[in-house]
Amino acid sequence: MSDTRPIGVFDSGLGGLTVLNAIKKIIPNENIVYVGDTARVPYGNKSTPLIVQYASQITKFLLEKDAKLIIVACNTVSALAISNLQNDFDIPIIGVIAPGANSAVKLTKNNNVGVIGTIATISSNAYQDELNKINPSINTLSQACPLFVPLVEEGLLEGPIVSAIVKHYLKNLDLSMIDTLILGCTHYPLLKPVIKEHTNNLILIDSADSLAKEVHLILKNNHMINNNTNKGKQDFFVTDSPITFANIAKRFLGYSIINVKTASIS
Ligand code: DGL
Repeated sequence: MSDTRPIGVFDSGLGGLTVLNAIKKIIPNENIVYVGDTARVPYGNKSTPLIVQYASQITKFLLEKDAKLIIVACNTVSALAISNLQNDFDIPIIGVIAPGANSAVKLTKNNNVGVIGTIATISSNAYQDELNKINPSINTLSQACPLFVPLVEEGLLEGPIVSAIVKHYLKNLDLSMIDTLILGCTHYPLLKPVIKEHTNNLILIDSADSLAKEVHLILKNNHMINNNTNKGKQDFFVTDSPITFANIAKRFLGYSIINVKTASIS
C-alpha cells in the first residue's frame, strides 16, 4: 500500500528549505507541505511558552493538511518544544538536534565541537546535552549568532556586511580548539560560503542530510512510504507576504516556486 499523504515541514521562515532540499534528494517522490512562519520570524529570541504555542499552531495546520509525519526543520523549536509536540500529537514528529549531534560525534577527531545557533537554542544547552548523551567526553563550545536569521530572511547571504557580522560572532569561539562546527540553525547553511571563509578547515555540519535519511527509515518502518515513482508535489505556506519568500527561495533552491500561499495560522 502506498501512503500518498504529504510530509509536513516547518520553520520560522526560509531556513527549513535547507532541510526540504535534503528530503527531496533522498525521497524525491514524497509530497511535501512546507510552512514558514514569516510573520513571526525570528523565533530565536522569543520565550519558550511562545515558541511552544507557535509550534503547536503550525502542527495543527499541518495535520489539517493531512500530514503523515512532521519535520521540525527549526533548531529553536526542536530544542525547546519538541517534547510538547510529541506528547500532544499522535504522529511521528522529528527534530533536527539529534541528527546534527550524531554527525558531529562521528566526525570530530579531537572531541571539541563548536555549536552556533539562536539565543534560545544556545541557552537551552540542547546540543551539549545531546552530544554528551552520545559521548560524555565531548567538550562543547557554543556561540549565539542572533543576527544571522534576519540576514537570511532579508536575502543578504554574502558581501562585506555579512562577512563582518560572521567575523564578529566567530571571534568569541576558540576556533583553534575545535575541529567541527555544528550549524545549529537551519538558516545558517544559507550563509555557509561566508562562514567557511572565516573557519578555515573546520568541518561544518548541518542536520539536513542525516535527518533526511532518518525520515526515510521511519517512513519505511511504519509502512508510510509513497510508492509513486513521479516527483512529489510541494506546497508552500507562509504567514506573511509570499513574494520575498519566493524570491529568496528561488535563489537558494535554484528553481522558482510558484505555489506559495499565505496562510493565517493562530
Ligand atoms: N531556522 C530556525 C532555527 O533553526 C531559526 C530560528 C529563528 O527564527 O530565530 O533555529
